[in-house]
Amino acid sequence: MSEAARRVPEHVRRIGRIHHIAVIVRDIEASLGFYRDALGLEVGAVQPIPSDRVVIAFLPVGGVKVELVAPTDDTTGVARFLASRGEGFHHVCFEVDDITAALTRLAIDGIELIDSAPRPGAEGPVAFLHPRSCHGVLVELIEAPGGPAWASLYPRGFVAPDAIR
Ligand code: CO
Repeated sequence: MSEAARRVPEHVRRIGRIHHIAVIVRDIEASLGFYRDALGLEVGAVQPIPSDRVVIAFLPVGGVKVELVAPTDDTTGVARFLASRGEGFHHVCFEVDDITAALTRLAIDGIELIDSAPRPGAEGPVAFLHPRSCHGVLVELIEAPGGPAWASLYPRGFVAPDAIR
């Protein structure tokens, strides 16, 4: 951790937990043959996200979720990932208390941000960090419910479809 990062308040530095890990699959139903039937994970919600042109399934396990992501057309980054690299691990998502503050202090630390400001995700305010700065892993941040970005991104309120705490 840099000198600058050490000076930021604990609530800005703190990573709450791993929120989910995302795996890209060709077909949700086919992938459940492994994750649900063979591994025995419970399937929470299966949810189309039309704005992202994907279908997502959440499988909660031990306070974390495995998120299966299948593209619905071939126009998105997720679809290009599938076409070029095949099915597989895509990103890990860490929960933070204040995502805007976390992005600011990461940028100060020289971390390359894909999203310089939080945007509304399926389960709350999210932002991605570039794998170039994360040793080859695509990293997502999500703000814990009740954080400051929730009020600005969801002025009419929002309840995550499959929230587990
Ligand atoms: Co994610």
